[in-house]
Amino acid sequence: MNPQIGSEIAMKASARAGANIAFVKYWGQADPELNLPLNNSLSMTLDNAFTLTTVEFLPGLAADVLRLNDEPAGAAATRRVMAQLDRLRALAAAQPAAGFGHNPALNPASWRARVESRNSFPTGAGIASSASGFAALTVAAAAGLGLDLTPAELSAMARLASGSACRSLHGGYVEWLAGTSHADSYAVQFAPPEHWRLVDAVAVVSGEAKEVPSEAGHRLASTSPFLAARLATVDGALAACRAAILARDLDALGEAAEADALSLHAVALTSRPSVWYWNCGTQAVVEAVRAWRRDGLPAYFTIDAGPNVHILTLPEHLPAVRARLGEIPAVKEVIVCGPGPGVTLLSEHLF
Ligand code: PMV
Repeated sequence: MNPQIGSEIAMKASARAGANIAFVKYWGQADPELNLPLNNSLSMTLDNAFTLTTVEFLPGLAADVLRLNDEPAGAAATRRVMAQLDRLRALAAAQPAAGFGHNPALNPASWRARVESRNSFPTGAGIASSASGFAALTVAAAAGLGLDLTPAELSAMARLASGSACRSLHGGYVEWLAGTSHADSYAVQFAPPEHWRLVDAVAVVSGEAKEVPSEAGHRLASTSPFLAARLATVDGALAACRAAILARDLDALGEAAEADALSLHAVALTSRPSVWYWNCGTQAVVEAVRAWRRDGLPAYFTIDAGPNVHILTLPEHLPAVRARLGEIPAVKEVIVCGPGPGVTLLSEHLF
């Protein structure tokens, strides 16, 4: 973050952000431009599925350049990153003291950026890479531009890029307050990571990018006759989840989280056109989790906008869960996560 003024004028910052898994999910939007959701959502930020991002603003660079997982990024990802950088540059330009040393000639708000981002997990397959990616990008770019934003402002800015990214700003157990405007739609922590060592074992059944990105799924939600039913029950689900987390009650949380995931997928399946995120591997893991539970192994599932299955359990049951997942041929990999920290700025850069 130290500006080097001279031959090498540059502002560079790096951040690490965890993905998050929602127990009560964001599905459907009140405002698609601002990514204002229809309901509050509740999540846990993950320790072992994260994105590292370095952003460097450079004078003389003609366009923003993005590398994702050590390769040049595609056009769609680059456009989304550029749009987020533009939002942050606009904030920096509006600051009264923009420019290093108040010298407007050295104002990074007009500079393009070089961005490198690496995920510790497969991109676009229902582990929220957009959440961790845009949380890390927002915090690194804001630091690179010297922006002084509150946690709520950073969370709201991350939301503009990807709704669920606003939750990855914070560690542990997090609630996104839906709000009704840009400024009041942001996430807050309601319990720190050390409150409860819940386990999220992510059964990866596909590392491919999903066919229907979540933006498209959100937009189609209003075409489902089941959306109204989902929204009528969501406040009850939020209350049940909050109480279960505060009481460290896996059975209560698991029941509420499974019901909420099934309600989201019911809305997706009954949208026009229909949106299917599950594959045969998803179904195999869901059936297995239900059978384990009948055998007395406490484990519950939740599924985001992709085929992979997040299995919620407790540390003492993890060896059994791992062993049983190992017997399901569709499971390619298991990523074991616990509650992790919020976004952190790093002193080491990716380039
Ligand atoms: O933030 P988006 O637009 O990628 O939407 C996330 C949607 C879900 O992951 C399915 C649910 C959630 O709340 O994380």
